[in-house]
Amino acid sequence: MTRPAEQSASPSVLVTGASSGIGRATVLRFARQGSALLLVARGRESLEETAREAREAGAREVLVCPADVTDADAVQNAVETAVARFGRLDVAVHSAQVMAYGRIEDVPRAVYEAVVDTALHGTANLARAVLPVFRGQGAGHLVVVSSLLGEITAPLMGSYAAAKWGQLGLVRTLQQEVRDAPGVHVSAVAPGGVNTPIYSQGATYAGRSGRPPAPVYSADRVARKVVALLDRPRRIVHAGLFNPVIVAGFRLLPPVYDALVGPLFKAFALASDDERPPSEGNVFESQPAGNATDGRWRSF
Ligand SMILES: NC(=O)c1ccc[n+]([C@@H]2O[C@H](COP(=O)([O-])OP(=O)(O)OC[C@H]3O[C@@H](n4cnc5c(N)ncnc54)[C@H](OP(=O)(O)O)[C@@H]3O)[C@@H](O)[C@H]2O)c1
Repeated sequence: MTRPAEQSASPSVLVTGASSGIGRATVLRFARQGSALLLVARGRESLEETAREAREAGAREVLVCPADVTDADAVQNAVETAVARFGRLDVAVHSAQVMAYGRIEDVPRAVYEAVVDTALHGTANLARAVLPVFRGQGAGHLVVVSSLLGEITAPLMGSYAAAKWGQLGLVRTLQQEVRDAPGVHVSAVAPGGVNTPIYSQGATYAGRSGRPPAPVYSADRVARKVVALLDRPRRIVHAGLFNPVIVAGFRLLPPVYDALVGPLFKAFALASDDERPPSEGNVFESQPAGNATDGRWRSF
C-alpha cells in the first residue's frame, strides 16, 4: 500500500459524526498522534467541546465545521476547507448517523427517510467530495463506520437496517471503483453493540429506548479498529465478538434466526428501565446535551 511519510506520522483527518460516540473517540485517537483534524457534525456546541478535548490530547490543529452530511454542498465545503488549511487530506472517517426504533408501519415516514438519508446520501456525499482529492494526491483512505445491522436484520430496526444495508452496498461499490487507484482505499468497520449515546439520542416508536446488545464495546475500542485500518485496509472488519456467528446464523439458518431474533431483541436490545412516548430524538436536530464519547452502559 502506498502511504506518504507525513500520513503515517500524523495524518490530516476529516471525521463526520465527530461530536459523539465512535466519531469522537476516533478524533481523540488521531489527536493523540498529533494529527490535524477537521470535525463535522450538525451541532456546533458539541463540536467545540470535542475540539477542546482534541487540542488537549495533542492534535496539531483542529477545525470545526458544522454541517449536515445529507447536504452535499456543505460536505464539499468541509472537504475543501480541510485541504485548503492542511495542504492535503489523508483520511476521512464517516461516523455520522441517527437511529430510530419501531415497526416500519409505526415510524413516521420523515423519520425513516432521515435515518436512511444520513447513511446513504451522507456516505455518497462524502465519497464524492474526498475521492477526487485522494486520486489527485495518489493516496487517501475513506473509512465508513458500518454496522452488524448492515449484514443482518432485526424487528423494530427497519429504518436503521435499510440505512446500513444500503450503506454497505455503496461501500462495496466504492471499493470496486477505486481499484484503479492503488494508493486510494475504502474500508468499513462493522461494530456490534457499542456504549455510545446513539441509543438514548435516537427516535423511538417502540415504547422504550434501545440499548446496545452484549458484548458491549467501548467507543474507543472501535476507534482503535478504525485507526488500525490505515495500516491494513480491509473491505470490512467487524468490531464485535459474536458478529461472525450472528451473521452466519442469519445467512445459514434463517428459520431459526427469525424465530429467535424477536424475543431476543426485546430482552436484550430494548432498555428495560427507559419507557418513552413516541419521540423524534435527535433525528431532525442535534441535541448537544446528549452527545458524549460514551453512553450509560458498562463496556469493555
Ligand atoms: N453505538 C453502537 O452500538 C453502534 C453499533 C454499530 C454501528 N454503529 C455506527 O457507528 C457510527 C457512530 O455511531 P455512534 O454510536 O457513535 O453515534 P452517536 O454517539 O449518536 O454519534 C453520532 C454523531 O453523528 C452526528 N450526526 C448525526 N446526524 C448527522 C448528520 N445528518 N450530519 C452530520 N452529523 C450528524 C452527531 O452529532 P449531531 O447530532 O450534533 O449532528 C454525532 O456526532 C454510526 O454509523 C452508527 O451506525 C454504532
